[in-house]
Amino acid sequence: MKRVPIIAGNWKMNKTLDKAVEFVNVIKDQLPSPDQCRVMIAAQPLFLADMIRAAANSPLQIFAENCYYHDFGAFTGEVSPLSLADMGVDGTILGHSERRKIFHESDELINKKVLAALRNNLSPLLCCDETMGRKVAGNEVHWVVSRILTDLRDVPREDLSKITIAYEPSWAIGSGQSADPVQAEEGCYLIRQTIADMYDDEAAQQMSVLYGGSVNAENASKLMASEDIDGCLIGGNSLKPETFMQLVNS
Ligand code: 13P
Repeated sequence: MKRVPIIAGNWKMNKTLDKAVEFVNVIKDQLPSPDQCRVMIAAQPLFLADMIRAAANSPLQIFAENCYYHDFGAFTGEVSPLSLADMGVDGTILGHSERRKIFHESDELINKKVLAALRNNLSPLLCCDETMGRKVAGNEVHWVVSRILTDLRDVPREDLSKITIAYEPSWAIGSGQSADPVQAEEGCYLIRQTIADMYDDEAAQQMSVLYGGSVNAENASKLMASEDIDGCLIGGNSLKPETFMQLVNS
């Protein structure tokens, strides 16, 4: 089963509007075709409309970093998935480790957000860390990524093609210490097994699974050579256009 490689940047709470638009203008004509490699950038909501305009007619996909699970209402300070979709945003990161740790987001909340994103035709880029669990199914015991079981609850099988999952061990994020290819492959393999467990083997083979955590131009191609790693989710090294393009080209 051939899955298209993905390089995704997560800018977190960095950049200013002019730098965000300048970045898009610099890279947009250098990108591979989307059947060779899908390239996406997630940025603060304030930048998204201008980034979408700058990226028009290019294969660059523009993502949000988070959204809420209601479309409208009295939720001061939250970002509506409907508004993101209406603006032309392609998708949104959900369940990033920083949202889970700093903002105490639970798997139950993230599950509501995944369903809301799908309802609004936004592609969820669902992040999960190294939390593994045992699951007993019939007489068999499986090792699964326990967060995924809750995060994807009630997601219909036909919506799985819109979802990408990123395995980001919390200790590897921003530490300069990437998981080695064997550890990263193990995490991504377990995510794929979890999808097979929840749905079926075909769904698992179709799912794009990324690795994230201290990815750089040196380690990216080694990580992506592993069977179950379809791409990388990159924080710090996605901020400069030259470094980001090195990652895309690697
Ligand atoms: P770093 O690439 O800076 O480790 O960040 C990873 C990350 O959190 C991407 O979502």
